[in-house]
Amino acid sequence: MGGPGNYRFGRVLGEGAFAHVIHARSKSEGHDVAIKVMLKSHIEREGKHHAVMAEQAALRKCAECPHVITLERTFQDEEYLFFVLEYAAGGDLSRAIRRLQRAQGGLKPEMAAFYTAEVWLGLEFLHERGLAHRDLKPENVLLDASGRAKLADFGAILDASAAARPSKPLVEASDDGEGRRSKYVTHLSERHGSFEGTAEYVSPEVLQGEPTTTACDLWALGCLVFQLSTGRLPFRAPTDFLLWEKIIAYAEGRDDAALDTPASLSPAAEGLTRALLRKEGKDRLGAANGADLENHDFFGMVDWSRQRLGTVSPPYVPPKLD
Ligand code: ADE
Repeated sequence: MGGPGNYRFGRVLGEGAFAHVIHARSKSEGHDVAIKVMLKSHIEREGKHHAVMAEQAALRKCAECPHVITLERTFQDEEYLFFVLEYAAGGDLSRAIRRLQRAQGGLKPEMAAFYTAEVWLGLEFLHERGLAHRDLKPENVLLDASGRAKLADFGAILDASAAARPSKPLVEASDDGEGRRSKYVTHLSERHGSFEGTAEYVSPEVLQGEPTTTACDLWALGCLVFQLSTGRLPFRAPTDFLLWEKIIAYAEGRDDAALDTPASLSPAAEGLTRALLRKEGKDRLGAANGADLENHDFFGMVDWSRQRLGTVSPPYVPPKLD
């Protein structure tokens, strides 16, 4: 049974530029779902038709992956498109990080390893199919009632197996007249609205307008490892522009761009962060061979075959969203 009439709509779970996600209960089957509702006229007006089709196609390709939110069905009426998604009762990973920080001062290393492993298994599934998520961050990782993590929000998904066209860089080094590359010029105003992803997690190749590959997600995974391990992001600045300068300076190994690593950061977490935050996508750990990533010390406590099967007890059971 399809159609909006089959659902009792409840509260808003999330709002984006193009969609609302609303909690609903199926009248025929009785289970909870999250319905992403998009206004067709808005999609048309903003030229987002292709992105919405790509999101749907990618979610369908991932139907079997336990580390990706399931798309149950889609339907439409005259005005709206509806994506009926698996409901993640545990909220998103940023909420879990905040709660664990308040309750116990941060995540234990085994918790950071558990979430990173869950996210990696979702990414591995996508990457094997040529898909780049392009907006990996804790807000887009949802927890089910038991605490297992699933990738969500495929609104920026890219089929990287289709020819990736370089775009104009967001930030570009400029010559200061004496051959020193000391300044950056930005094309942000020209490109406003065409940037996919979130500033803090964006990879240098995206900033520099180079072709995007699935390795952009490995850069964001590096940011996530640092965040899960320290409670804060590796790159922070008062403005997006300064932030992007920092990201590029770090990627290029400039002297003034050291990672600000707190003493509490374990060598394994720091090592994995650095192995993922490599300038060239192909050099990021896991880009060439997933086993290289899985064998890193950071995952010493992870039993990968049980993690893949979903038989590991999650280290934290999130309180249900009310
Ligand atoms: N917020 C966005 N998508 C969601 C989902 N599938 N479940 C719960 N909350 C969400």
